[in-house]
Amino acid sequence: MTNSRFDLTGKVAVVSGAAQGLGQAAALAVAQHGADVVLVDRNAAGAQATAETIRAWDRKVLVAGTNVSDPEAITELFKQVDAEFGRVDFLGNIAGDGHLCKPEDLAIEDLHRVLQNLVIGRFAMCQQAGRRMLARGSGSIMNIGSVASSTALGRGHVAYSMAMGAVIQMTRELSTEWSHRGVRVNCVTPAQVVNPSLTARMQSDPTLESRFLQGIPAGCLGRSDDIQGLAVLLASDAARWITGAIIPLDGGNTAMNAGGTPGHEQHIVQTFHAETTQHSGDLKSSTFRA
Ligand SMILES: NC(=O)c1ccc[n+]([C@@H]2O[C@H](COP(=O)([O-])OP(=O)(O)OC[C@H]3O[C@@H](n4cnc5c(N)ncnc54)[C@H](O)[C@@H]3O)[C@@H](O)[C@H]2O)c1
Repeated sequence: MTNSRFDLTGKVAVVSGAAQGLGQAAALAVAQHGADVVLVDRNAAGAQATAETIRAWDRKVLVAGTNVSDPEAITELFKQVDAEFGRVDFLGNIAGDGHLCKPEDLAIEDLHRVLQNLVIGRFAMCQQAGRRMLARGSGSIMNIGSVASSTALGRGHVAYSMAMGAVIQMTRELSTEWSHRGVRVNCVTPAQVVNPSLTARMQSDPTLESRFLQGIPAGCLGRSDDIQGLAVLLASDAARWITGAIIPLDGGNTAMNAGGTPGHEQHIVQTFHAETTQHSGDLKSSTFRA
């Protein structure tokens, strides 16, 4: 460890979605930096595989097959955490599912299911972890939202977007209520990170990936391990003054206006040359465009 402010030794991290994807990557990152971990996923076998990697690093690990849509199961999960670890320092609130349907056809029960999962479930995790953190006067929560928390995706994402919008407002409210008592609450909002369901959607619509990339100035889709730096930072004391933040993890997607064009340098240089050749006296205008 080169900088002790990023050292998580002695801290306990609860991470949901730990069987694969962003949750697994976040769990591995905080464990690599010293934390003991509680790996939560309804795919208990997948979480067990993550646990085997982490145990090889001599960290204490608990695997829980909790359904994070179920507040009662979440209450039981945290009782188990109390019994095994006696503290919670970091919550990576990551597990969740979407549901795609045209707004005009969306069944209200499907809307309820998505809200139960992403809003009520995320809140119940925050509440259980937050109570314990408040009692000790310290802790950090990293909620996962989405670019759909504040912009619209279309393509049947209405239930998901409604829920993810609530996640950023929940984050701001909890940060406002809890940060002066030592509990920081932040939200990371990814754009398209490759996972099995996104891969399936890109396979069924071959135009989708290139459309995504038109909106991502960094020029590539996200990978699960792109969450790792933020997970370690937010779990660590180095982030002691970061709270209430909505942090894009999106290759520049949110920053770019819908009319913006990524990777446009070549075109601008050509335009610049064409215009300076045609209007060599108009240097001010050409210089501005370049
Ligand atoms: N991948 C993306 O492009 C992207 C973008 C923005 C936001 N997100 C959000 O980030 C989170 C993780 O995404 P991912 O790409 O890692 O997804 P993923 O599908 O690869 O992994 C999700 C994991 O969560 C678990 N899970 C889902 N519902 C659960 C439940 N009710 N109880 C317990 N475990 C449950 C699954 O078993 C799985 O292991 C999701 O909430 C997703 O909406 C993903």
